[in-house]
Amino acid sequence: MKKPTELLREEHQAVLEKLDALEDVLTNLEQEEKISAKLKVLASFFETDFWLHFDKEEKALFPEFDNFMPRGSGPLAVMIDEHEVLRETNAVMQEAMTRYLNHDGSAEVIQAIRQNGHHFIEFLRNHIFKEDSILFQMAEMHLQPIQNEKVVKLFAEMDRDRT
Ligand SMILES: [Fe+2]
Repeated sequence: MKKPTELLREEHQAVLEKLDALEDVLTNLEQEEKISAKLKVLASFFETDFWLHFDKEEKALFPEFDNFMPRGSGPLAVMIDEHEVLRETNAVMQEAMTRYLNHDGSAEVIQAIRQNGHHFIEFLRNHIFKEDSILFQMAEMHLQPIQNEKVVKLFAEMDRDRT
């Protein structure tokens, strides 16, 4: 059976691919017909499906840290704060994307997508790197097999609830 961190690392890889695709779209916003279908798919992913990953971390994995890392401190607190920054940046980015997809291709809207989009991409790439290289390593060191099993089971339930 895979460990929860292995499953989350796989999701990270999938997210990094979406971020590359989003970065590519950001360079071509002036060509609406060329990119709007692609942007629509990516906007929808980061508006809905993506957040299940954060839920899996916050509601299933992170609570298992309680016996070795207090909630309000250490790398865990930093990761939770970063999730909030990403939620806020995404909300602003989504608003601009919705306007763009409703054919508002004004310079103001394009700039808002670019600015928030690049911030979101860079921030999330760094965040994923920190989780993979610091937080998940700690989880792999400290979590007992029974905890891993419990978390993987919760992941499966969350996946099932969504569909
Ligand atoms: Fe993550």
